[in-house]
Amino acid sequence: MNQPERVLTGVTTTGIPHLGNYVGAIRPAIRASENPNTETFFFLADYHGIIKCHEPERIHESTQAVAATWLACGLDPERTTFYRQSDIPEVMELNWILTCMTAKGLMNRAHAYKAAVQDNLDKGIEDQDHQIEMGLYSYPILMSADILMFNAHKVPVGRDQIQHVEMARDIAGRFNHRFKNLFTLPEAVIDEQVETLVGLDGRKMSKSYGNTIPLFESEKKLQKSVNKIITNLKEPGEPKSPDESPLFEIYQAFATPDETAEFTQMLAEGLAWGEAKKMLAAKINAELADKRARYEELTAKPAVIEDILQAGAVKARREARALLDQVRDAVGIRTLR
Ligand code: ADP
Ligand code: TRP
Repeated sequence: MNQPERVLTGVTTTGIPHLGNYVGAIRPAIRASENPNTETFFFLADYHGIIKCHEPERIHESTQAVAATWLACGLDPERTTFYRQSDIPEVMELNWILTCMTAKGLMNRAHAYKAAVQDNLDKGIEDQDHQIEMGLYSYPILMSADILMFNAHKVPVGRDQIQHVEMARDIAGRFNHRFKNLFTLPEAVIDEQVETLVGLDGRKMSKSYGNTIPLFESEKKLQKSVNKIITNLKEPGEPKSPDESPLFEIYQAFATPDETAEFTQMLAEGLAWGEAKKMLAAKINAELADKRARYEELTAKPAVIEDILQAGAVKARREARALLDQVRDAVGIRTLR
C-alpha cells in the first residue's frame, strides 16, 4: 500500500490573517487536506511569532485569530493534526539538535537575515548585525525542526518561504548522511496561479508591515481596504493593463482563469479603477462571506478553540516523540541502562 503523503504548514502568530496568508498558505493547505491520500499537519507558529514581535498581547490575540481562521476556512481537526508549535516541546529539542548540525554559512545566506543586514548597511550603521537577534538568524533551523519533526513530504507556502524549505531539505540531507537516514526530504509546494500579493503600501502584503487587507473584516471595511489599493491616475475609459496595479493579482487569486481573462479584457477596454475595485471586493466577498460568519462564531468561544488545539497537541506529540527518540539515539544521547 502506498504511504500517504504528508503535508505540513504553519502560520506565524504575529497579527491578524490577511488575504496573502489565505491565498498563499491557508487555502492551498486546506485543499490538500481534502485529498484522501494525504495526512495533514497544520500549526500556529507562535515560537516563530516571538522572533519578529515582542508584544505579548499581540502574540496572544493573533494565536486565537489564526486558529479561528484555519477552522473557519474549513480545517477539519479530525482529519488534520492541528496544533500550536509551543505545545510540542519535542520540536524545540529537535531544533537544538539541528542547530548543532547546521552550517553557520547556510544561515548567513537566509533572506530574512540578509535583508536585516542590508537594512543596517543602507542606514550607514557600522555594525552590520546591529539589533539582529539570534532568533531571526536561526529562524530557518526552527522552521526545519517544524517540518522534519513530522517527516513532511510537501510544504505548501508562499514564494517568500521557498528558501526556508530548501534549507530544511539541506539540513535533513546532512543529518541523514552523517548519522542515520531518519528524515524525509521536504519539498515546497507553490500555488502556480498565485503571486505574492502586494499590500496597500506597494510592499509584500505582510502582518509585519501593517499594510494588509485583513481576511475577515466586515464587508464594508473590506470595500474600504480594497479602495486603498494603489492604482495610477488613468481616467475611466483609458486602457489599462494588469501590471498597473496590484489589484489585478488579488483579483486573479480569487477568480477562475476565465473570469481573470474577462477582467483583463475589461481593463483593456477602459474599466474605471473605482469599478474594478467594486468588482474585486465583490469577488473576495463571495468566497469569504460564509467563512467570515464562522470566524465570528468561533471568536466568541475561545475555549472551544483551545480544546481543539489541546487534542491536536496530543496527536502531534505522539508522532513527534517516536521520531525524536530515534534522533536522540542516532546522535548518541541514550540511556545508560
Ligand atoms: P506575514 O508576512 O503576513 O507575517 P507569514 O510570514 O505568517 O505572513 O506567512 C504565512 C504564510 O502566508 C506563508 O506561507 C507565506 O508565504 C504566506 N504569505 C504571507 N504573505 C503573503 C503574500 N503577501 N502573498 C502570498 N502569500 C503570502
Ligand atoms: N516561517 C513561516 C512563515 O513565516 C511560518 C512557518 C513556521 C512555517 N514554520 C513552518 C511554514 C513550517 C511551513 C512549515 O510564513
